Amino acid sequence: MTFARACAAADVVMNRPRAATVGGVPVVVISTDEGWFCIHDECSHAEVMLSDGDVEDCHIECYMHGSRFNLRTGWPDQLPATMPVPIYPISIEGDDVLVDIAHPYHFEEN
Ligand code: FES
Repeated sequence: MTFARACAAADVVMNRPRAATVGGVPVVVISTDEGWFCIHDECSHAEVMLSDGDVEDCHIECYMHGSRFNLRTGWPDQLPATMPVPIYPISIEGDDVLVDIAHPYHFEEN
């Protein structure tokens, strides 16, 4: 694992997307009742930032066409997107949110 700092934990509001860049890669950091998640900041349907969407029930919704991506797996549960978005390992150390962009998870379809 190669974790790098994405942002301060104190800057993340629960259930609100927090855009960050790690090693030049755009990511979204999200704190939820079910834990912390990090998803790539680009919809798999078109080049739209997911960080502009809403978070609910451990999903982030793309504001453009409404696909909802599961924060645990990266898979959409709603068309038009049909492919997953990378999910990255995340770790909280003190007030630092650390993300490992080199080792995204690979989940089978929902
Ligand atoms: S651009 Fe995200 S669902 Fe179409």
